[in-house]
Amino acid sequence: MNDRQLSEIAGALRGARSVVVLTGAGVSAESGVPTFRDAMDGLWKDFDPMKLATPEAFEADPETVTRWYDSRRVRVHTVKPNPGHMALAEMERRVRSAGGSFTLLTQNVDRLHHRAGSTGVVELHGSIVVWRCTRTGRKVEPPPEPLEKFPPESPFAPGALLRPDVVWFGEMLPAEAVAAADRAVASCDLFFSVGTSAVVYPAAGYAALASARGAKVVEINRDETPLSRDVDWSVRGLSGEVLPQVVERAWAGA
Ligand code: OAD
Repeated sequence: MNDRQLSEIAGALRGARSVVVLTGAGVSAESGVPTFRDAMDGLWKDFDPMKLATPEAFEADPETVTRWYDSRRVRVHTVKPNPGHMALAEMERRVRSAGGSFTLLTQNVDRLHHRAGSTGVVELHGSIVVWRCTRTGRKVEPPPEPLEKFPPESPFAPGALLRPDVVWFGEMLPAEAVAAADRAVASCDLFFSVGTSAVVYPAAGYAALASARGAKVVEINRDETPLSRDVDWSVRGLSGEVLPQVVERAWAGA
């Protein structure tokens, strides 16, 4: 990011009345959480996540699916928010204290935004930290230690199982999350797309929707994405480095 770009983005942020930030797995990468489409690490490198993150896979092999999700769940309890998460929590505080509105939409399921101090986070794809009963839908947050039995039995209904409270391929996003996202995107004047490959809808469509309604769009991503040529500012970089620079420049000395 060159200094002109940084000044322009910081100026747009300082003057914005309504800011929406969409984050993806790239924002958690610097915390040590593997992204979805990068080569997967460790024990699970032989599994295709597209084949694990589906209701059919859970139906066919609930033990493998719940073991994979529980290993990811335990891992997020051992990592911590990185400077990118912290910068977004500061951005929210600054925008709101200036009387503006701020909404953080995340595709991430790791709750690192919450742990960094962001509030009102809209979890478009649910959370891996929470599991729910397959029969009653009742939710539970297991302790940080690995589950003992796979697939885990539900404590709420005999014979039912517990599954991660995440959105699988082919499943609907939580209705209240979609409604909150639609409201925020419809009324924002500045939209950030950060750390996402921008290929999974509806999240991938929000930047274009915001732009169509007159918002300026900033992309901060390590690699080029289908969005990159359609945004007002496209920044190649790491969110943990770029976001703190943007927040610092926007409110330096304020
Ligand atoms: P992806 O793994 O598809 O994309 C991560 C993006 O982050 C890539 O474009 C990387 O270039 C970028 N990236 C990696 N490290 C970065 C860093 N330190 N700073 C900035 N950018 C970085 O993950 P998502 O876009 O989040 O959905 O994937 C979207 C959805 O696809 C996920 O929520 C998941 C998956 O299917 C469901 O499971 C329903």
